[in-house]
Amino acid sequence: MSSTTRLLAVAAVLWGAQSCWAQANALQVRSWAAGCANCHGTLGVAVGSSASLAGAPKEDMAKKLLDYKAGTRPATVMHQIAKGYSDEQLQQLADYFSALKK
Ligand code: HEC
Repeated sequence: MSSTTRLLAVAAVLWGAQSCWAQANALQVRSWAAGCANCHGTLGVAVGSSASLAGAPKEDMAKKLLDYKAGTRPATVMHQIAKGYSDEQLQQLADYFSALKK
């Protein structure tokens, strides 16, 4: 095998691993988000009185979630729920919901 071929083979394997990781990650975020559906509606569109998350501004949502976790934003349940996720996961949830259609 020439060194160029070997390099291409390594690049192909790494590329494959990368897209597999991205896919697994997207599925992971969706399964976390499913835990929010009971109160915030399927795909973040609330039916009752609770807030819809779909299409809400990403930075705003991430900040609210981090503030709930830190206990600096008044809450009845969200302070407990937010503590179940890392800051990174809350950011990913905000990314996910903000990208959904209202
Ligand atoms: C048990 C019901 C329940 C679940 C499950 C739940 N929430 Fe909430 N959420 C609420 C309530 C109630 C509020 C209003 C604040 C409070 O009283 O805690 C709220 C508020 C919020 C807000 C602020 C909305 C706004 O604009 O004021 C965001 C963002 C949010 N939730 C995200 C999430 C995410 C993300 C999840 C899943 C990880 C989730 N919630 C799971 C009940 C829930």
